[in-house]
Amino acid sequence: MGETERPYDVVVLGGGSGGYACALRAAQLGLRVALIERDKLGGTCLHRGCIPTKALLHAAEVADTARDGRRFGVNSSVDSIDLPAVLRYQQGVVSRLHKGLQGLVSAATIDYVEGTGLLTSPTSVQVGDRTLSGRHLVLATGSQARTLPGLDIGGRIVTSDEALRLTKLPASVIVLGGGVIGVEFASIFRSFGATVTVVEALPRLVPAEDEAISKALERAFRKRGITCRTGARFAAAAPDETSVTLTLDGGETLSAELLLVAVGRGPVTEGMGFESAGIVTDRGFVPTDERLRTNVAGVYAVGDIVPGLQLAHRGFAHGVFVAEDIAGFAPAPVLDGGIPKVTYCDPEIASVGLTETQARERHGEIATYEYNLGGNGKSQILGTAGFVKLVRAVEGPIVGVHMIGARMGEQVGEAQLIVGWEATPEDVAPLVHAHPTQNEALGEAHLALAGKPLHAHA
Ligand code: NAI
Repeated sequence: MGETERPYDVVVLGGGSGGYACALRAAQLGLRVALIERDKLGGTCLHRGCIPTKALLHAAEVADTARDGRRFGVNSSVDSIDLPAVLRYQQGVVSRLHKGLQGLVSAATIDYVEGTGLLTSPTSVQVGDRTLSGRHLVLATGSQARTLPGLDIGGRIVTSDEALRLTKLPASVIVLGGGVIGVEFASIFRSFGATVTVVEALPRLVPAEDEAISKALERAFRKRGITCRTGARFAAAAPDETSVTLTLDGGETLSAELLLVAVGRGPVTEGMGFESAGIVTDRGFVPTDERLRTNVAGVYAVGDIVPGLQLAHRGFAHGVFVAEDIAGFAPAPVLDGGIPKVTYCDPEIASVGLTETQARERHGEIATYEYNLGGNGKSQILGTAGFVKLVRAVEGPIVGVHMIGARMGEQVGEAQLIVGWEATPEDVAPLVHAHPTQNEALGEAHLALAGKPLHAHA
């Protein structure tokens, strides 16, 4: 082991969304920072998650638009999907962003250390023959795809990691897990022409969303020819040369060319010395208090290893929060309840705040309103269906906004301000929303809930 170096103010372990955001903000605030990464700067979001998946989803949308051209009087059709070309486009996006990020980190005064870090104490991390010590450690080691007992990943059985790099499009796919990754990939494969079946153990797809959203998604998926098997639990899977056969609890079998396993992501915290440094973990996650402090003084955790939502933007916010906290700024904690969520399947889902069921539990009496996109000009122009659903505490603020339909992710910013600032429908109703935009649907929903509907039936 080499000699111990001059201590840093902050040593960040992991260069994904949470870790690099923390390092950048800490450097901006004049702290001396080391950022340790064993793979590529940018982590899951940039290399195996958000960005490459959303690039595939955009290519899928282009395919659907071309296929649907005649509906708009444009005589287009889809000849074929050139998967290598799709992947070149995807990789082009990833590598431009990767270069940009590397530029940001090298322009900041951050010591970027390539290698695998091992905690040797609550204030030091060994990387190869270097020992980096810090007044504060930030654990930001992220998450990885999980599988189930008896379900070995390999060949025809893949996770999202492999699904992003397929060399050939399968003719048929079973997607195990109808959560966020499951429905996004179901959407991609269907747009690229495959037969798709989603198998979900719980009674509905996207079970973390409002029930009305799940119902609408299942309806829209059925219309797109995607089979949804809800309340169906995995029992076994057996691949052979041409297909993989999935057996459900109860004995029914399904088969397809490919099985995509999307049953959640687990924390990456093993074998990095966390326990021997005294850091408490819970099923691999690192529990923290509201200020992201672990049980060991001076050690913080951010992003997917902290129990709660696993979202890149939560990681960014955690990272910035911790840097500011260390710098003594006393920032306000990042609470999961106010974090917006977007699922980029077709139709797209966006939500913030409480579902109807959660609001009823929390607030007792509530009021809800669903504004149908059938009344929204721009949505009709795009040919999309869906709705904006508002949940309010009776006589009180909006506590949840749930949206489904093409491009609804772009509406979540205003929804977040409304929920975050505890606005009432009466506060929002006088705000003029531009016409013709899909954003008007949010405005109209608030007008209706404030008792003055305009383009709203019933
Ligand atoms: P998830 O937790 O969203 O969904 C996993 C689903 O698998 C659940 O609905 C669960 O009931 C089901 N499941 C579990 N065991 C099963 C079994 N034995 N048989 C059938 N179904 C079973 O996890 P997912 O989709 O893997 O995503 C991981 C994380 O990544 C999530 O936290 C998600 O929010 C995040 N993510 C976010 C994206 C976004 O913001 N657009 C995109 C992709 C992932």
